[in-house]
Amino acid sequence: AGAGALTQDLVGRRVVISAGGTREPLDPVRYLGNRSSGRQGWALARVAAARGAEVVLVAANVDLPAPFGVRVVPAGTAEELRAAMLAESADADVVVMAAAVADFRPETVAATKLKKGGAAEPSAVPLVRNPDVLAELVTKRPAGQLVVGFAAETGDDAGDVLTHARAKLARKGCDLLVVNDVSGGGVFGRPDNAAVVLAADGTAGEELQGSKDAVAAGIWSAVAPRLS
Ligand code: CTP
Ligand code: CA
Repeated sequence: AGAGALTQDLVGRRVVISAGGTREPLDPVRYLGNRSSGRQGWALARVAAARGAEVVLVAANVDLPAPFGVRVVPAGTAEELRAAMLAESADADVVVMAAAVADFRPETVAATKLKKGGAAEPSAVPLVRNPDVLAELVTKRPAGQLVVGFAAETGDDAGDVLTHARAKLARKGCDLLVVNDVSGGGVFGRPDNAAVVLAADGTAGEELQGSKDAVAAGIWSAVAPRLS
């Protein structure tokens, strides 16, 4: 964290951060999930607490101990994460959606374990859309609250990473969007990270690189001056 560890620019601020990846159950023992480790959201919580904030971490399947001074609220599924974020964010100054929320969940959850053989053997899994937590937080935010989204993007024929990110920012309506370029094989589970913070008008900040703590420090340095 370097000089960031001495900064106290979040004293008196209440921040709520989601981290990890949701798991959507299929039966009592199986789920649809993703590879998010929760390390970037965890680093954001740790750094915010070190800089003086009161921090709540809504953790979806994060296999890490609670950062010092941070209150952790566990959430397994997208619906649980939505409920926790709505409850915790009501009086927050900043809300950060760093979690990888599953876009879809199995339409039905079998009450008993799905077994091989017989007529009940599944050949496909019908999926339904999960709620968009970030979009809902933006709609319901109280005056003065800053809502920060995350996006992992790749460049393709339709546009480069920032083009896709700016379209997502406009669609979501959040105040800031942290963009990870995952074209080169992805950042999931790696200790190091690279990100750019986009402001609501699409302006890109300097590229943040290094450990997830260093990237977290850069993100808070982009957020703190925007707090009212
Ligand atoms: N997000 C959310 N609820 C969802 C899906 C995503 O709150 N159901 C949030 C993520 O936490 C992240 C942001 O939205 O902060 C962008 O996530 P991303 O998956 O990139 O966006 P999507 O709108 O799901 O678009 P895509 O179809 O590209 O996955
Ligand atoms: Ca998604």
